[in-house]
Amino acid sequence: MIYLNGQYMPIEEARIPVLDRGFIFGDGIYEYVPVFDRAPFRLHEHYTRLVNSLAAVQIPNPFTEAELAAVVHKLIAAHPWPNQGIYLHITRGVAPRDHSFPKNIKPTVFMMSNQLVLPTQMQIEEGLAVVTREDIRWLRCDVKSISLLGHCMLRNEATDQGCAEVIMLRDGFLTEASSSNVMVVRNGVVLCPPKDNLILPGISYNVVLELLNSHHIPHEVRPVSAAELHSADEVWITSSTKDVLAVTHMDGKPVGTGKPGPLFARVRALFLGLKAQLKAASHD
Ligand code: PDD
Repeated sequence: MIYLNGQYMPIEEARIPVLDRGFIFGDGIYEYVPVFDRAPFRLHEHYTRLVNSLAAVQIPNPFTEAELAAVVHKLIAAHPWPNQGIYLHITRGVAPRDHSFPKNIKPTVFMMSNQLVLPTQMQIEEGLAVVTREDIRWLRCDVKSISLLGHCMLRNEATDQGCAEVIMLRDGFLTEASSSNVMVVRNGVVLCPPKDNLILPGISYNVVLELLNSHHIPHEVRPVSAAELHSADEVWITSSTKDVLAVTHMDGKPVGTGKPGPLFARVRALFLGLKAQLKAASHD
């Protein structure tokens, strides 16, 4: 069962007009909310990011936070999996093809839930292999736009090399990965690229930053150079589907020892501890 413009229906019955600006221009924004043990994770933060993305591209917000939560809970209840990923997609709507924003059209709103596949034991214990590439995307990567062709082209280069992700650099500095944020550990200090227009402000990035703060783990939020990335002791990627995972091979070379590092193990354990606390609270 999916949600489309106020109605619930089987996905096979969902229809979108070809003049939808999402189809014609990629004119829309999206969110992805992970659900653990049937409880949405950080829904308020996802809602806030949604509101910011919509405002940045002047699409009217179709949902209050309570309305969004109601649809999310209905979709969760309609599916059997304890862990789900709620995909939410809002386009500007349907109008004759014209680059300027048309006035007074209704946004198209689509939501679906899929099973969330958590990282495998192998991915956690061995880490991931990635490639690095120049960041060829636009300069508003803070907006969660549905126009993901740059992300897809770069990710596909990683896939062609047998790698899980691509880490991007812009003008000699680390930005992020195609669907995750990146942090780097050097000499016991976690380096986090600043949340500016060049990266998506990841909800998982924020969770890790909170954990670094609350556990007094040395860290710096500042631009991270290519040289620092390439001489890192540890590299991590964070996202809703991966929590935090170690990158152990980059461009065919080992990162640090080529195994997930000690700070990664500590932060991943803290992340899982936080999720377990939430689970306990939601069952109280
Ligand atoms: N991707 N950077 C990019 C470009 C992303 O697409 C994502 C998330 C992240 C991590 O954000 P968060 O921690 O809020 O998941 C960073 C989602 C999962 C996706 O595209 O499906």
